[in-house]
Amino acid sequence: MKTIASKGSQRRGSRARRRFRGPLWLAASLVAINLAVMSPAVLNLAGADEPGRETPARPKLARLPDHVPAPDDNPTTDAKVELGRQLFFDPRLSGDNSIRCATCHLPERSYADGLARSMGASGRPLSRNTPTVLNAGWHSSLFWDGRAGSLEEQALGPIQAADEMNQDLDELIEELAAVPEYQRQFPRVFGRSVNSQDVARALAAFQRTLVTSNSPLDRYLAGEKDALSAQARQGLELFMGSAGCIRCHHGPLLSDGKFYRLGVGRDDLGRGSVTGQLEDRYKFRTPSLRGVERTGPYMHDGSLATLYDVVQFYYRDVPSRGPAGLPLDIEPLVDQSFSDIDALVAFLKSL
Ligand code: HEC
Ligand code: HEC
Repeated sequence: MKTIASKGSQRRGSRARRRFRGPLWLAASLVAINLAVMSPAVLNLAGADEPGRETPARPKLARLPDHVPAPDDNPTTDAKVELGRQLFFDPRLSGDNSIRCATCHLPERSYADGLARSMGASGRPLSRNTPTVLNAGWHSSLFWDGRAGSLEEQALGPIQAADEMNQDLDELIEELAAVPEYQRQFPRVFGRSVNSQDVARALAAFQRTLVTSNSPLDRYLAGEKDALSAQARQGLELFMGSAGCIRCHHGPLLSDGKFYRLGVGRDDLGRGSVTGQLEDRYKFRTPSLRGVERTGPYMHDGSLATLYDVVQFYYRDVPSRGPAGLPLDIEPLVDQSFSDIDALVAFLKSL
């Protein structure tokens, strides 16, 4: 795979990088030429390849594959997905039979809810913003703090959480086992009667089918160079170059799956509450940026309403230190220009 040279990327880690304004036309035309000739599925922001020299892996963007791989012990089948879909939309999953997964993960809102923080069973706002479950099957750790390792592991969490669905698992199984449809389906799909493990498996299988593909970025990466507007291409250039977003937002999901302290919010210990480590406090998983235009408000606490607000945060509102005086993993971008912000927003809308 040929890589695209960009001087900007070599200044990683220094403030100079942020001021770098390389010849955008050159980089842009290299991208275009590269795409026209090679149709690469990835865009790599590497220094020039030196023959005979191993270049370390650099962060890159990649197309989102069409299918999420399933774990060996829970292969995806049509019947299982159908069962999972019914469970996802079934209010019986909550304690008072009023809340479904889809109450917070609404299909018409890209499987998020459009709220800064949603209301759960307790009638009080939850402590965190609802992420989309689209493409969630690609994440290696789930939740803002990464406390679940798979969709199977994740699924029973919200059902039992007092402030989300507030349901007792034994009661749930009793309730579901009384429904003729489920009495027929569970044995057909899993070879045994209703049980919580298989509820989780079916929900996971259904969610693995919720993927976005063929976005303008995917089509651009496939070689269709008009798939991104000129402004979005300028945003892409900033994203991968001087704005440094690619450091954390890369790969097919535009997330490295790691945890960072950006200084958003002051109360939630985030990753620190999972590991108990001081150094992990106030850190959150890099969210995927796929379909991000439709999943606002943003950040773990839903505190930023629009993509413009988010980009402006990176340019202007990053605090000088984190909560409890802990250091942050980013510094504000120094050179603010409104056209840069607009270009990044245009790029974010193409994902
Ligand atoms: C009351 C609202 C609400 C309900 C109901 C709800 N969720 Fe969520 N969901 C959330 C919130 C909030 C988070 C983020 C919590 C966190 O990170 O600590 C979340 C996170 C998730 C994630 C992780 C996504 C990611 O990017 O890491 C998945 C998957 C998920 N929910 C699936 C489900 C399923 C399946 C159900 C039904 C069994 C369900 N949710 C019910 C609000 C809800
Ligand atoms: C050091 C790693 C890092 C860098 C660099 C970075 N981000 Fe982020 N990004 C994150 C993390 C972590 C969050 C979640 C923070 C939180 O909720 O507290 C986030 C959140 C976001 C969100 C909100 C997504 C959502 O669903 O809530 C957007 C949009 C975003 N980043 C875009 C960008 C852009 C554009 C850049 C470059 C200007 C950038 N990021 C640079 C790690 C990073």
